[in-house]
Amino acid sequence: MKKTVITYGTFDLFHIGHLNLLNNLKSLGDELIVAVSTDEFNTLKGKKTIVPFEDRIEIVRNIKSVDLAIPESDWQQKEKNIKEFNVSIFGMGHDWQNKFNDLKVFCEVIYLPRTEDVSSTSLKQKLKILDRSHITDLKHTLDLISSIVERFE
Ligand code: CTP
Repeated sequence: MKKTVITYGTFDLFHIGHLNLLNNLKSLGDELIVAVSTDEFNTLKGKKTIVPFEDRIEIVRNIKSVDLAIPESDWQQKEKNIKEFNVSIFGMGHDWQNKFNDLKVFCEVIYLPRTEDVSSTSLKQKLKILDRSHITDLKHTLDLISSIVERFE
């Protein structure tokens, strides 16, 4: 019988940690389904992406180990997806450890090690250094420090 694996995520600024996770998950079964959070769902979670949903899902859909990419638009759909796709394994990275144990009544639930030293958040921080408004902020801070130093000269 075909073994289907499913995972969920935002996959903003697609990076090597995402690729490793998807490849590792695929190696556990025959078919990998990836649910990508929509922009509306991310807003609900208080998360803002750099890359819009249509692009994020298109990138995930074209990863070699991914057989099907679907939108994730609410918290309830995991149980529904597991049943409709006859999923054998629900897998997430370690940052979600124990968060989805209630799904164990429907299928196997696993948490894989994350790839170290990379995340969408850290990439966004690095990009921020190049951001014009950040440079303007830095300039204002430098001007302020200069004016304080001048007072003591
Ligand atoms: N992931 C991983 N290794 C990383 C980063 C992410 O295995 N270095 C996994 C997560 O554990 C999750 C999936 O990739 O199961 C999608 O994660 P996502 O939240 O989209 O990526 P992050 O880079 O963790 O994003 P953020 O920094 O916004 O949390």
